[in-house]
Amino acid sequence: MSTAAIELDRSAAQAREGGEGGAPALTRRKRGAGSDPARRRRSRGGAGPGARRGQAARAAGEAGTHTPVLAAELLELLDPRAGRCAIDCTFGDGGHARMVAERLGAGGTLVAIDRDPLAEERFSSLAGETDCSLRFIRAGYAEALELLLAEGLRADIAYFDLGMSSMQVDTRERGFSYSYDAPLDMRMDPTQPFSARELLADWDERRIAHALREYGEERYSRQIARAIVQRREHTPLLSTQELVETIASAIPAPARFGAGHPAKRTFQALRIAVNEELDQLERALPSAWALLREGGVLAAISFHSLEDRRVKGFIGELARGCVCPPDLPVCVCGREPQATVLTRRSITASAAELDRNPRAASARLRAARKLTGAPQA
Ligand SMILES: C[S@@+](CC[C@H](N)C(=O)[O-])C[C@H]1O[C@@H](n2cnc3c(N)ncnc32)[C@H](O)[C@@H]1O
Repeated sequence: MSTAAIELDRSAAQAREGGEGGAPALTRRKRGAGSDPARRRRSRGGAGPGARRGQAARAAGEAGTHTPVLAAELLELLDPRAGRCAIDCTFGDGGHARMVAERLGAGGTLVAIDRDPLAEERFSSLAGETDCSLRFIRAGYAEALELLLAEGLRADIAYFDLGMSSMQVDTRERGFSYSYDAPLDMRMDPTQPFSARELLADWDERRIAHALREYGEERYSRQIARAIVQRREHTPLLSTQELVETIASAIPAPARFGAGHPAKRTFQALRIAVNEELDQLERALPSAWALLREGGVLAAISFHSLEDRRVKGFIGELARGCVCPPDLPVCVCGREPQATVLTRRSITASAAELDRNPRAASARLRAARKLTGAPQA
């Protein structure tokens, strides 16, 4: 567990609401507005005039808001009911969490996790909008879920909405985007000492090439790694645009003008490496599953094939029964499926959602339900 982990319970959040110096302004939910998430989002800057405020904030380099992806589809699979316990492993701007919390009602509990202090700030506004019990854990979700397991928590729902939030990518100085010139950073947890700058300064050429190939599926990984190492021998790489220039100089001219931005895969790879995203996911999935009660649902929205493959593989393994060789007349392994897969194929965004939110283009949602009789943690 990171030393930066902070836990906020509902009363702490409400105490903040009472006017602690410097605390963010909190939004109180108006009676009657609760059943319309779109209306609440508008009041928070998600659409209409609020969206224009959001755009202005983004233009000024501040964090805007995040539009939740595959929200209706996720809600249908999770089917949150009154009084249940849900774990949102990637709180972000709380778009999904708000919808879930509303269904959990006064007797329900929502545990929210995120490693980004900005998400924790956004979480504090949720206390004023929902009746359910709330708790926030600021930590990597792998560590947070292990903590919850150690505490003996049992949940009915656990879900992940992987990758970055719009607030992160649109805050220029966090260095997630190749579209803005900013310091090379890419940390989801800004208190973590290791950023993209350290990675590019310290890792050797082979290790950089390996990361670009594994996490970015970058065809020119060796050439880009070589160009990075050659450049840093005389000038340290400090900014996103210096990195973009270095990438462009390393790849053949036709690839520079092909599909997508030439720096896209490298930026994805560095972000995954800096935040140890795949390692976190591999550790977190078994813990999230173990936390579920019988009948509980695990769901994950992935944004690239590296994540989706892990989620699909994990769920597929749980749903597998007997693994005896087919020529054995009777089962000797005794293995029983632990899960029903709820998404035979991954669910993707509708054309209407893509029109509203192009960032949903690569999203894939998968889910599984824990079977009765499956082993409990
Ligand atoms: C796509 S956003 C989630 C958006 C959210 N569902 C919403 O509707 O507003 C992903 C969030 O997960 C967080 N995150 C990513 N990897 C994490 C990890 N390993 N541990 C904790 N939080 C993580 C990021 O900081 C980011 O805020």
